[in-house]
Amino acid sequence: MTDVALPPGPKNAAILRELPRFRRGVLAYLVELSRRYDDPVVHLQFGPGASFVVNHPDVVKEFLVRVPERFSRSRWLGELRKLVGAGLLFSDETTWVEQRKRLRPAYARGHVAVVDEATRVETDALADRWRRVPGAVVDVQEDAKRVLLRALVRIMFSPEAPVDDRQVIADLDAVLQFVGMRSTVIRQNLALVGIRWRETAVRGALARLDAFIADLIDGTRSGRYSAGLLLATLLEAEARGEVDAQNLHDEIGTLLVAGFDTTSALVTFALWSLAARPDLADAVRTEAEADDRPVLEAVLRETLRLYPAVWAIHRTATEDVELGGFTVPKGEHVMASPFALQRNPAWWPDPDAFAPARFFDAPDNDALLGMEYLPFSHGRHTCIGKRMALQQARLMVSELVARFDFEQVGGPPRLVPGVIIRAADGLPLRVTPR
Ligand code: HEM
Repeated sequence: MTDVALPPGPKNAAILRELPRFRRGVLAYLVELSRRYDDPVVHLQFGPGASFVVNHPDVVKEFLVRVPERFSRSRWLGELRKLVGAGLLFSDETTWVEQRKRLRPAYARGHVAVVDEATRVETDALADRWRRVPGAVVDVQEDAKRVLLRALVRIMFSPEAPVDDRQVIADLDAVLQFVGMRSTVIRQNLALVGIRWRETAVRGALARLDAFIADLIDGTRSGRYSAGLLLATLLEAEARGEVDAQNLHDEIGTLLVAGFDTTSALVTFALWSLAARPDLADAVRTEAEADDRPVLEAVLRETLRLYPAVWAIHRTATEDVELGGFTVPKGEHVMASPFALQRNPAWWPDPDAFAPARFFDAPDNDALLGMEYLPFSHGRHTCIGKRMALQQARLMVSELVARFDFEQVGGPPRLVPGVIIRAADGLPLRVTPR
């Protein structure tokens, strides 16, 4: 790399000056870095680890839309691969095109009723639980995860399969936190100099998750359970000889990682934000019966701006690539952070304020909003579950706000960047039936 001009950014020589900035955590550091450098690409170097950080909407477009085939998914997510292997999230670019086409029927528009029904049943069960203890303080993050995991299993895998939601969530949290820690630049460097994280911590969790996935597949194959949308699509592909048992396992594992924690972050932070804005909560209630729900839509979009579940999109260059006027050499890590780009005042006035009004009258299509808005990414790897996620979030937020008043307890959540963003200490809200 020595003969290639690097973009500006903090280098090893300045590491001591940078360390205090790191004290507030990775997310705050990325936001600060994005604001400090007025450059399209920033080069971040800590020890032997380095990243090219995309820092301008035009470069987001180059990275995600114009030349996505010149990158592979980052090699940094090792442990996660044990669970999700070559599922859609991590598959090789050469097999990914066919794979995405094959899975598309599971996400088609026609499944609105199936998604609604399962989400409604689980949301109603949660509302019943909350109603039994009026005025109690509940961890909305945990409760939203349980609802959305149970709904995901019913919709995508099997309506009848039993799911020990607390155990599955605890096991996934263990794996995701472990991977999240390892994927930060600093932790990578610790690993490189020989300090290893205790892999045994996640071995039991991975084994239990594998057993859960095996039961879904065996139960559906043997007719004990009926097949949900994804499993039905996959079993048809298996009958045509296009996929094998390992592919089935990996696609289910992929959705356990990508398909409920993400949406639950959206629901959780939307409810938390609305708790401080009774005017907006009332507006959401008032428009509940209307065909258009501009306030709810704007609340969800603003929540995704401030709290994008996928806080960073990681890739590795598979060849030398031009980005923002610089050459990214083959093998280097490139990252675009929705969290940092969506909090940059260059594109978002008053970026730290929760102000859904900024999305009133905005175009429906995220791409038309500009590349500085990328909660579901852009280009060919755009989130395949976006429609389902938004449908579920609309239903949950509007139903829960209609039936309960929410009150914030304690200060703002301490955000931590696992693979998916979360509130480190849960998200307590006082919940009172209306
Ligand atoms: C608010 C909720 C969600 C957010 C913010 C979100 C965000 C994202 C983002 C940013 C990506 C691109 C990742 C990358 O390229 O590295 C992605 C990909 C993906 N998402 Fe989502 N997602 C959400 C919900 C869902 C749901 C509900 C599902 C499935 C039921 C899902 C399944 C996937 C899959 C399979 C991919 C890989 C797509 C591909 O590469 O072809 N996501 N998501």
